[in-house]
Amino acid sequence: MSSEKIAQTLEEAHQHIRSARTDHDGDLRTGIDLGTATCVITVVDAAGRPVWIDFDRTAAIRDGVVVDFAAAAAAVRKLKATAEAELEIELVNAATAFPPCIGEADSRACRFVLESAGFDEVTLVDEVSAANKTLEVNDGVVIDVGGGSTGVGVFESGQLTALDDRPGGGHHLDLILAGALGVTVAEAEECKRAGSGDYLAILRPGIERIGSSIRDLTRGAEHLDLHLAGGALMLPGADTTISKYLGRRVRAYPHALLITPLGIARYAS
Ligand SMILES: Nc1ncnc2c1ncn2[C@@H]1O[C@H](COP(=O)(O)OP(=O)(O)OP(=O)(O)O)[C@@H](O)[C@H]1O
Ligand SMILES: [Mg+2]
Repeated sequence: MSSEKIAQTLEEAHQHIRSARTDHDGDLRTGIDLGTATCVITVVDAAGRPVWIDFDRTAAIRDGVVVDFAAAAAAVRKLKATAEAELEIELVNAATAFPPCIGEADSRACRFVLESAGFDEVTLVDEVSAANKTLEVNDGVVIDVGGGSTGVGVFESGQLTALDDRPGGGHHLDLILAGALGVTVAEAEECKRAGSGDYLAILRPGIERIGSSIRDLTRGAEHLDLHLAGGALMLPGADTTISKYLGRRVRAYPHALLITPLGIARYAS
């Protein structure tokens, strides 16, 4: 799919944050992204067009590991109920995603969170494959840098040929920023999201560290473009920093933190 078309879809998704699409078509499908920074519900129509997106900043999940089961289930239950009231439909099944290196037991915990929140049938997918359901990269590297971790998947001729992850994401950038500005980590997170200053120079070492994880996880795939998903590299200039550091072509997308949530919903039955 062309970058313009993907950008348009992500713009559309952004417009439907807490504002339901009315011209949707066919059965609706639901995705739940149990992220470290944000838990996101995404509803798409039969054609995969975004219909409803809502989120909750819960601290119940860390790198795909459910650290507070009750809080995670409560957050998902609330997001589900709000979506159902807005769309006037019951959402029965859902998909959810886990980071590449998560073991089977922890990915099962993600399933139990959704079941406990009232979903009957739950589909599990890794977050990089979910991101690529939105990006449709045939030959390239899909990278999801979220709050806690950097997930990397190599796609060749449409097949996922390598999948791995490393610690490192937006939270680590917050730690650096908090130290440099002399503010709390929560305040650093707010400053960064609001773009209230030019933090690129302060955060360059942290971004380059993410770049070095990407290099380690893509040995032998240096000829492929890097496609950035996830919120952490939405910092202005982060994409060019990674590109210069690795000497590779980087594709960034608007509203990149919606790429994986949208792809998860498209995986749902
Ligand atoms: N506009 C922005 N500029 C810079 N960073 C941002 C911006 N918006 C979000 N972020 C960062 O993106 C991160 C959240 O991204 P995302 O929603 O993809 O993570 P997540 O899915 O919750 O985490 P993970 O996938 O690691 O479990 C946060 O660390 C946040 O600081
Ligand atoms: Mg994520």
